[in-house]
Amino acid sequence: MILVTGATGNIGRELLRQLHADGHAPGVRALSRDAGRAGPLVPEGVVVVEGDPGRVETLKPALDGVRSLFLLAGAGADARVLEAARGAGVEHVVLVSSITVVTHPHLGPARANLAVERRLRESGMEWTVLRPTQFASNTLWWAESVREESVVRVPYADTGLPTVHPADIASVARAALTGPDHRGRTYPLTGPERITPRQQAGELGRVLGREVACVGIGREAAFGPMAAMMGAEVAGSVLDLMGGDVNDELLAVHDTVSRVTGSPARPYRAGGDVNDELLAVHDTVSRVTGSPARPYRDWAEENAAAFR
Ligand SMILES: NC(=O)c1ccc[n+]([C@@H]2O[C@H](COP(=O)([O-])OP(=O)(O)OC[C@H]3O[C@@H](n4cnc5c(N)ncnc54)[C@H](OP(=O)(O)O)[C@@H]3O)[C@@H](O)[C@H]2O)c1
Repeated sequence: MILVTGATGNIGRELLRQLHADGHAPGVRALSRDAGRAGPLVPEGVVVVEGDPGRVETLKPALDGVRSLFLLAGAGADARVLEAARGAGVEHVVLVSSITVVTHPHLGPARANLAVERRLRESGMEWTVLRPTQFASNTLWWAESVREESVVRVPYADTGLPTVHPADIASVARAALTGPDHRGRTYPLTGPERITPRQQAGELGRVLGREVACVGIGREAAFGPMAAMMGAEVAGSVLDLMGGDVNDELLAVHDTVSRVTGSPARPYRAGGDVNDELLAVHDTVSRVTGSPARPYRDWAEENAAAFR
């Protein structure tokens, strides 16, 4: 039996769809904190079991008989969930961590992910660790302003990252859950190319058939709404990842160099905390699944309704 946590989310829904399409549904269970809400979201034949990874005592029925677990780091009491899984006889865990354990290990969420990875590796269970970069689905944060004003307001509008389609994370997870070849492996997951927020807004406009403006905003302006949605620490970390650990004053262009030296200043490149590893495009998706990683364009087409 495979238990999929985060079953109603970006990766989980697609993972269940793929497992169902492959004929695995009778051996797949979906975990949700609200089984009534989750029921219509999962494919027919997949049983939803109610439980909350934040309250490990609620997971007993869901873990009963499970041998493989798909687990999102940070969506509950991770260490205790791993303990409970081990106790229930789980043999293999596919963990969604984050590329930030490599690129930004000093940030709080990355430290937490790294700690869960370590616990899993030391748990005695077999493991596969997925380290995705920024998701294409994060652009759902723009849905309201695109629907209402055809505008995307975003910091670091011209910093491109190799955004990954959640369906590709699901495809790699499916391979790891159903085949023997991925145990003891750690996979960085990216899309096929770097894409900037301005280019993403352009893709949305193309899909919607109307212009979507991209308005660059400062870090401070972006922080408030993001902190309300995801908490201050995560919002700060996400902003670092989107464009660097820089503030508006640091980004301001002064002409002192050319005024004093007579030569133009050398061009500014990416923000300070965007490092080579975060910019790197990995071919893991195509190597593991045999299909090329999906570009942002695909995600925009599949999710256009959210922006109409
Ligand atoms: N977004 C990114 O750019 C990014 C980058 C790297 C790594 N990640 C990692 O990817 C994972 C997120 O994947 P996703 O986008 O598929 O997830 P998601 O759509 O945000 O959420 C998946 C599901 O998890 C449950 N859930 C959400 N918050 C929870 C909480 N606090 N406690 C318990 N359950 C909760 C909800 O299901 P129910 O309500 O049905 O229980 C939700 O539908 C996280 O581990 C994150 O750290 C994200």
